[in-house]
Amino acid sequence: MNKIKPRSNASARLKSTAQKSKIRNLAIVTGGGDCPGLNAAIRAVVKRASQEKVHCWGVLEGFRGLYDGQIKRLEPIDVAGIISRGGTILGSSRFNPLKPKDGLQKIKKQLQEKNIDVLMNIGGEGTMRLSYELEKKGIPVIGIPKTIDNDVWGTDFTFGFDTAVSIATEAIDRLHTTAESHSRIMIVEVMGRHTGWIATYAGLAGGADAILIPEKPFRLSRLIEIIEWRQKVGKRFSIIVVSEDAKIILDQGNKKPSILEIPSHYDEYGKVQLGGIAIALEEELRKHINAEIRSTILGHVQRGGSPTAYDRVLATRLGVAAAELALQGKHARMVALQGKEIKAIALNKVVKKLKTVDLNLYELSKIFY
Ligand code: F6P
Repeated sequence: MNKIKPRSNASARLKSTAQKSKIRNLAIVTGGGDCPGLNAAIRAVVKRASQEKVHCWGVLEGFRGLYDGQIKRLEPIDVAGIISRGGTILGSSRFNPLKPKDGLQKIKKQLQEKNIDVLMNIGGEGTMRLSYELEKKGIPVIGIPKTIDNDVWGTDFTFGFDTAVSIATEAIDRLHTTAESHSRIMIVEVMGRHTGWIATYAGLAGGADAILIPEKPFRLSRLIEIIEWRQKVGKRFSIIVVSEDAKIILDQGNKKPSILEIPSHYDEYGKVQLGGIAIALEEELRKHINAEIRSTILGHVQRGGSPTAYDRVLATRLGVAAAELALQGKHARMVALQGKEIKAIALNKVVKKLKTVDLNLYELSKIFY
């Protein structure tokens, strides 16, 4: 694992490495679900690479654009002033370009036409998996991790996560005051396909009375106990944070316990599309709890809007580090935050597993139930 040291602007200007740069053209793709910070990362790659006279290209509409050949030049002027903008100026899609039979052939053709030496794929674990596949098929790729889910293995944090946690925390704060006024139980559903990072952080920050995540199955009976205990000691309300893929165990008398299920759809990659567990949980709780219960599903609000300062800085650091790798002619790696440093990790290591919630952190929340 290599530490990546960005050269300072001043030294870059004094001593141009234009001749030394191992590449002439790079293309940036934003894949999968968008998140705040993508534009900051695009800006960082373009600005740093352009200093070394490398031509940057933007692939439109994510990997669909790579397949279709929607690729345009990106000059530094095109990325000026976008650090604070949410979403992605390039567009994104949940499209697997290797699924069509002619996928690989078309991608290679598009890249050859523009003499693109390396792809900078900004995405989550699905995009990193695709990046690894592309590398194996002879297309040089550098991965830049993003996602509100914070579940990409190998990096302490992904950008987008801090913004999503801030939005969810603010929502929990707001639900607290209305819950208290009406003596209600409020269920707030947050995103996180397969991992409960947003629920854990926002639940801790917002002082939730119970946090339900995929990594740690939670018995409905235990949740009822917590709520009833709070009612008994005179607490006027309860706030429950539930991750969209939380595993909630339903006791069924003598029968084997089951897991609360919600209807699901699947996308191009066969990934489940979640949402609605809060409503299913509300229905279950209504059978047992004598109080008013309401659900709020935060959904895509968590992915929208301007990135926090933390996400802008992280995206900028990762973008610059990815550009440095490209300038050195390196690929088959993902840039990652580890401790205080930005490092490069082999893509084949990144794709082996998901980064699940630190259970010590999750257990900490139970002190406050
Ligand atoms: O991976 C990010 C994420 O927002 C997940 O938290 C969520 O399950 C999924 O994407 C939603 O995807 P879509 O935008 O395709 O509905």
